[in-house]
Amino acid sequence: MSRLILALDVYDRERALGIAECTADYLWAIKVNWPLIIGSGLKIITELKQVTGLPVIADLKLADIPNTNRLIARKVFEAGADYIIAHGFVGREGVKAVMELGETIIVVEMSHPGAKEFIQPVTDKLIEMANELEPFGVIAPATRPERVSYIRSKLKPGIKVITPGVGAQGGKAGDVLKAGADYIIVGRAIYQSENPRESAGSIFEEVKAWS
Ligand code: XMP
Repeated sequence: MSRLILALDVYDRERALGIAECTADYLWAIKVNWPLIIGSGLKIITELKQVTGLPVIADLKLADIPNTNRLIARKVFEAGADYIIAHGFVGREGVKAVMELGETIIVVEMSHPGAKEFIQPVTDKLIEMANELEPFGVIAPATRPERVSYIRSKLKPGIKVITPGVGAQGGKAGDVLKAGADYIIVGRAIYQSENPRESAGSIFEEVKAWS
């Protein structure tokens, strides 16, 4: 099974479906974020699943009060999302509201440089929360493989480590898989390339070498 997740951050429905279809052979799942949902509507989740048969991760980074997280998550799971990404820093009740409705992935550290300002200092607390709640997985930064190893070493076995930041943000698939990531997320390096199928295929081969 592949360990590659496509971050499909385009607006346009046709383009999204086209890229998803031509790369599907190399993917474990497709991640949709606000750009695609805003550009094409929530029904794109249902369509992506119909076209590819792959799991869909809704990267909404939910960070609201429990009731609002619940209202949003309900509609997104109803549309067919298999997983929702939620922030933990708003408190465990907000995360639990999502987990009660479906599989959840908690952000414990982000991949961009700004993550060092506020998220990284509380990563240990977010890991503790993840170990208590036992979500499907956590998000850790592919841009900092040493942090991926650290997060993996503190997490209960069985909780998946999912890492964005490979490609455009500078992370290397091999480094982050060696550090203990279960899945890598790649966006621009695939959807902005001249041949998304070929790019996905070559990252898939790299990932396979580490499996
Ligand atoms: P690129 O184009 O940089 O896309 O390969 C990366 C995708 O992943 C999202 N992203 C994150 N999501 N925590 C998350 O939950 C993170 O630390 C993080 N960093 C990047 C990004 O929004 C895009 O969809």
